[in-house]
Amino acid sequence: MTTRREFIRKATAAGATAIASYRLARAQEGQPHPLGRPASYEWKKPKRPVTAAVMGAGARGNVYAGYARKFPEELQIVGVAEPIPYRNESMAKAHGIPESRRWPTWERAFDGPKFCDAIIITTPDRLHYGPAMAALAKGYDLLLEKAIAQTWAECKDILALARKNGRLVGVCHVLRYTPYFRMMKHVAGSGRLGEIISVQHLEPVEHIHMSHSFVRGNWRNSKESTPMLLSKSCHDLDILRWVIGRPCTKVQSFGSLRLFRPEMAPPAAPARCADGCPVESTCPFSALEIYLRRKTWLGHKDTPGDDDASIREWLGRTNYGRCVYHSDNDVVDNQIVNLEFGPASASFAMEGLTSYAGRRTRIMGTRGDLVGDEAELDIYDFHERKRHLWTARDHAKLDSGHGGGDYGLVRDWVQAIDRRDESLLTSTLEASMESHLIGFTAEESRLEGGTVKRIDPTALGSPAS
Ligand SMILES: NC(=O)c1ccc[n+]([C@@H]2O[C@H](COP(=O)([O-])OP(=O)(O)OC[C@H]3O[C@@H](n4cnc5c(N)ncnc54)[C@H](O)[C@@H]3O)[C@@H](O)[C@H]2O)c1
Repeated sequence: MTTRREFIRKATAAGATAIASYRLARAQEGQPHPLGRPASYEWKKPKRPVTAAVMGAGARGNVYAGYARKFPEELQIVGVAEPIPYRNESMAKAHGIPESRRWPTWERAFDGPKFCDAIIITTPDRLHYGPAMAALAKGYDLLLEKAIAQTWAECKDILALARKNGRLVGVCHVLRYTPYFRMMKHVAGSGRLGEIISVQHLEPVEHIHMSHSFVRGNWRNSKESTPMLLSKSCHDLDILRWVIGRPCTKVQSFGSLRLFRPEMAPPAAPARCADGCPVESTCPFSALEIYLRRKTWLGHKDTPGDDDASIREWLGRTNYGRCVYHSDNDVVDNQIVNLEFGPASASFAMEGLTSYAGRRTRIMGTRGDLVGDEAELDIYDFHERKRHLWTARDHAKLDSGHGGGDYGLVRDWVQAIDRRDESLLTSTLEASMESHLIGFTAEESRLEGGTVKRIDPTALGSPAS
């Protein structure tokens, strides 16, 4: 018979063994595993700094120009076109730009002869085509913000002129330059998951971001900018195409503007939040709460001060003070796209009404799967019966916005220009054209009520890998 003492000793030993093996299993789960690394080229110090002029010294213009401040031996900003005087002034001051190379609008920058290597186009979406065509005609290379242009015909014009004049164009698909998405692409292309069968990708925009940018802000109206699939989700369509590594063959889309419409407004809600709105104190989208009390999302404010009086004045005269149900917005707050990439299928959802942001992706392959949330990749191998965790934060080298993608892009773009080697850049114009074509075609499908539409990437010439 087992004594009480023996029983306790055996149970404790068994418990200790169970705990030890549980801990070992957990430790192995998180162990670095030979997932390999994304291929990389050898960085070389440029022979001389690449010189560039910025068209549009707003949020994005300052991000890319910020790279020049940090790495002046790689990039120098030598000209600026910007109509808002204090933005023009502030970029000129930060980069020592002479009076003769400061202009109020982009057109003026192309009056004279070519004066630098490249043009950085960070004007609003409706002002990409004009400066891109003018710059290419003068023989400049480009860093071009997405969307490339507002229509597919304009995108094709830009591609044709870039090819004709032998110019290098980097499109700002910054996600391609983040350690996280590079690793996802590497894993998907390495065969570790086997053949990719399907992908689910979610872009949760976050409800305040939705109201700020796509109801009140610069991207609220598709005629003034572009539809949501181009203005926001062109990054996601681009990532899907890039990670799956095959041309998209068919698309179908559904979606609508459901919430931010006049008929959804609370009774008696006035045109502006500050005009005595009866539900202002409880409305999740109150402009007074978001901009004045919390002082958030003020990046697009076009006056230098952040004091209450200047914010009130700004809310009184701009779209940012408008009731979200009484704006002149037309872009969707929910949209799904079904995509066929040859034998692989994918589904994409853009959701404006979420409490969280951060893209979520699930890739299903014949020998494993991957789950990612922009912070971590969780990869399971069916054959090894093992899970491998990869954490983006451990791999961030160039600290900048979009998970390191902003500076990663400029770094590769500078290298590509200095070495006249477009292959150093992953988001070439050709590659980005393909995902723009997916976006334009999917939007047509949505407007037609969800027609399945074929995509012919050979229309672009040589599809990118
Ligand atoms: N790659 C990304 O992740 C990403 C993120 C946000 C925005 N964007 C894109 O970048 C572009 C700029 O966006 P932003 O957020 O910097 O907007 P922004 O409004 O902050 O900046 C645009 C600037 O262009 C200026 N401008 C207007 N008309 C001009 C003209 N005629 N000539 C010269 N400048 C002019 C504006 O005054 C403004 O300062 C947009 O196309 C947008 O879609 C890309």
